[in-house]
Amino acid sequence: MDKYIINGGNKLYGSIDIQTAKNSVLPILAATVLTDDKVRIINAPNITDAKNMVKILSRLGCKAVFEGNDLIIDSSFADNHEIPSELAHELRSSVFLLGSVISRFHMAKIAYPGGCDIGLRPVDLHLTGLKRLGVEISEESGYIVCKCDKLHGNEIMLDCPSVGATENIMLAAVKAEGVTIIKNSAREPEIEDLQRFLNCMGAKVRGAGSGTIIIEGVKKLSGCEFLPIPDRIESGTFLVAAAMCGGEIEIKHTCAENISSLLHKLRENGCKIRINNDKIVLENNRRLMSVKSIETQPYPGFPTDLQAQITALCCICRGQSIITENLFETRFKYVPELRRMGADITVINRNAFVRGVDGFKGATVVAHDLRGGAALVSAALAAEGRSEVLDISHIDRGYGSFEYKLRMLGGDIVRVTV
Ligand code: UD1
Repeated sequence: MDKYIINGGNKLYGSIDIQTAKNSVLPILAATVLTDDKVRIINAPNITDAKNMVKILSRLGCKAVFEGNDLIIDSSFADNHEIPSELAHELRSSVFLLGSVISRFHMAKIAYPGGCDIGLRPVDLHLTGLKRLGVEISEESGYIVCKCDKLHGNEIMLDCPSVGATENIMLAAVKAEGVTIIKNSAREPEIEDLQRFLNCMGAKVRGAGSGTIIIEGVKKLSGCEFLPIPDRIESGTFLVAAAMCGGEIEIKHTCAENISSLLHKLRENGCKIRINNDKIVLENNRRLMSVKSIETQPYPGFPTDLQAQITALCCICRGQSIITENLFETRFKYVPELRRMGADITVINRNAFVRGVDGFKGATVVAHDLRGGAALVSAALAAEGRSEVLDISHIDRGYGSFEYKLRMLGGDIVRVTV
């Protein structure tokens, strides 16, 4: 298992490129099963979640090859509707394959999904939605088993705007007979990106981003070349790291609009931020002021995937903050690790009460999940002295070339294989 050794205290300066969005690429990969033609994903991110999704696709009979940074998927040979438990457990997004696999084979069998251990993460909304499209669902010793004669369009009202359920239903509905309307759908930019991708393949989807998605089923989808949107969470992670360490960084090939809730908070903290087309420059050379409260919400609210990073920043600001996690109940697992580095945080239910301290001190800490792990790395870069961040496989799930990019910015960080 790899770990990072980090000597903190360097300010960050320089410019880096942002990868394409993990949370766009995963459902897009699932969608490739819907066509017999080749799909080229331009600049696919070099992250383990995407590699695990490719492994699952290969198990289904799809062929996947990298050509430079592009990933080419050929699903013409797909012949298997079962997603094995050892792979499904490594990747929660494997559940998106239910929609596309059932569309292709009229059968799907998948072990209950894994992914970050950040709470219950149920799949009831995915299953209720699929049932409304004509899928019969049963459970057999840890597997979800789906069957249908044919998929038909329907109106589906989601109890809450789940990202994954919205995407899964979109994938099942694009080739269903008739029209599907998803109400209270998630409005995340990645949903719009999936719509853009599906329409590129010849689907008829509209409304993504508005809260109501309308899908007219088509008979056939074809291959395409597609460049996914920039990763707003990677963008946010680097900006917060620079706010914590001080200095001036530029992130390129990003989209400021998709992280406006974060930029708003960082400006409130006292950071100077300039936006120029697809570039964001963040400058900070002093101790920041805390923001009083931050609550995670579905998009366009503050993203839960940046909650750990912004909490780490609040720990070294002047003043007190309350951070409320509304989406995933156990997303404060990184808090005891930050305390080891000197943070003053108390968690009560869904709230983290933070009293700002002068700075972090280096320590050995463990990454328990993807975003919490990234927050620990940022804290270690800002800390006085040497830190070790253990179990960084969680971080590799979502950040490609993480330490390389941080080193380009002047961070003293090395990966050690133990
Ligand atoms: C996606 C993102 C993840 C992000 C999350 C919220 C991907 C691959 N992952 O995860 O990075 O943190 O959105 O922005 O895109 N829920 C139910 N029943 C369901 C499904 C969800 O109750 O069937 C609840 C969840 O417990 C949670 C809320 O809905 O409280 C939001 O979850 P959801 O939007 O589905 O997150 P994911 O799609 O799993």
